[in-house]
Amino acid sequence: MQTMTANQSEFIQLHHASDQQLRAELSAGLLSASAFASPKYFYDALGSRLFAAICELPEYYLSRTEASIIDAYLGEIAAAVGMGGTLIDLGAGNCAKAARLFPALQPAQYVPIDISVDFLRDAVGDLQQRFPHIRMTGLGLDFSSELQLPDSVQRRQRLFFYPGSSIGNFTPAEAAAFFRRLHAACGNDGGLLVGVDLVKATAILDAAYNDALGVTAAFNLNLLLHLNRLLGADFDIAEWRHVSFFNTAQSRIEMYLEARQAVTVKWQGGERRFQQGERIHTENSYKYTPEDFVQLLQQAGFKVTRTWNDADDWFMVCHARAM
Ligand code: AVJ
Repeated sequence: MQTMTANQSEFIQLHHASDQQLRAELSAGLLSASAFASPKYFYDALGSRLFAAICELPEYYLSRTEASIIDAYLGEIAAAVGMGGTLIDLGAGNCAKAARLFPALQPAQYVPIDISVDFLRDAVGDLQQRFPHIRMTGLGLDFSSELQLPDSVQRRQRLFFYPGSSIGNFTPAEAAAFFRRLHAACGNDGGLLVGVDLVKATAILDAAYNDALGVTAAFNLNLLLHLNRLLGADFDIAEWRHVSFFNTAQSRIEMYLEARQAVTVKWQGGERRFQQGERIHTENSYKYTPEDFVQLLQQAGFKVTRTWNDADDWFMVCHARAM
């Protein structure tokens, strides 16, 4: 019989980028010839709630399709990845996706990672109550730039969990580099469980990022409110519109904020005149064919053991082993 020791969750915040660094990075993006802001600035408190609302929209099939694949194949997934390992959740947020895996995977340790450890405290606190025998270690870490895990993350049987097609925010070259770093952090007995959105009819993709209720537009525009706070900027939401479309040649959804009229924006340490129709690029969301995605994983050194798709082949979940 297994002994059921109740665990006390642990939280570790690793090097936070300074506010000054963030401001310099943001300011440079806004002043660049083709203005841009990283999609990580979508996720302030309101933006995270708007993203949760997007996941409930009829047009936004990604999260629900992924959840249906994981639910349908949970037994096969557990058999492929093995039980009792170390489950490392990249971009954990409210930890709900990983929590669905717990009963089948029964990880010895759960390591949710998010930019700020404070985002994790409530969710992990609740989960620790429900699963007292799983050791939980919350990490505050920007894993896109750094993957140095502290000693309190067990080395044995590491499974990186990267759901939601978040990988789509990277270019394919960046995604390959990121997978190589994950591969190095896996150890011989480790692996990766990753969800990715697949190429499909343009009308379906366009609708998913241009929903009828305008929630995606609100999510995109909210980035400006976040910038107003971070930068002391004076963006007026009414002067901007949400634009998004599937770029077939690049196989990606592109999202922009477009000036409805000529407008001058000021912030601490900068200002810029935007012409009518000028855009700030806020997100790319790459879509893959199953073949291309498997090849990307293989190029990073992974052995792809299994893939699971929904009946329409809209979304794919892959298990890749380090060796
Ligand atoms: C969280 C990056 C997977 O690209 O579909 C949703 C974010 N942007 N609607 C995506 C998003 C607009 C989402 N990812």
